[in-house]
Amino acid sequence: MRILMLAPPGAGKGTQATRLAEKYDIEHLSSGEILRAEVEAGTALGDQVREAVDQGDLVPDDVILRLVSSRLVTAATNGGYVLDGFPRTLAQAHAIFDQVLANPGWQLERVIHLEVPRDELHRRRQARAEAEGRADDTATVFEHRLDVYDRQTAPLIDYYRGRGLLIAIDGSGTPDEVAEQIFAAVDDLAPL
Ligand code: AP5
Ligand code: MG
Repeated sequence: MRILMLAPPGAGKGTQATRLAEKYDIEHLSSGEILRAEVEAGTALGDQVREAVDQGDLVPDDVILRLVSSRLVTAATNGGYVLDGFPRTLAQAHAIFDQVLANPGWQLERVIHLEVPRDELHRRRQARAEAEGRADDTATVFEHRLDVYDRQTAPLIDYYRGRGLLIAIDGSGTPDEVAEQIFAAVDDLAPL
């Protein structure tokens, strides 16, 4: 099973990708988690991307490709993946699916687009800020992340709709309600 979660910050990509990975025994690949681990470990790459991540700007496409390419190929050859947070630009989508995963058996099968109203995104952001204290979860930085999403990531919605891969899911319910809809939308892809 090969799935992409495409949704704005705070919509539940990570929450639902975790559930998909558990249920279908596929690899959950989160570019945000990978980047935050680099920052926390203080690697050279982490130091290079810290400012962009903390301020809610995208890190350069080539950095993302360097971080995810070998993980993608491994996951694709081991039963599949659920991608959370990338590709996030059309350039990343082309680089990943025209180059890294060019093998037809490794391509995306479905794109899950979670639709959540903006005020609910802010409510979730605030709850997480209090619980976890992520540097990019302040109201100002989060608003900037939403703008970056609208400008740089939202064009992927039409791109994948045009390829017949997009399924829109109402992401405003409880995590269980959202998961149920997602499972119904992908279950036919599970091996028998
Ligand atoms: P990233 O980590 O991908 O963050 P994001 O897209 O902004 O999304 P979030 O992780 O904030 O939200 P989510 O959709 O995963 O929701 P979650 O499940 O956590 O990226 C961070 C940064 O890294 C970027 O700004 C950029 O700098 C860099 N980056 C990452 N990828 C990149 C790329 N490809 N290219 C360039 N730069 C990149 O849920 C949110 C909260 O709500 C949680 O507390 C959760 O418990 C709660 N919740 C979830 N579902 C529900 C529900 N149904 N009801 C109530 N609460 C819920
Ligand atoms: Mg996330």
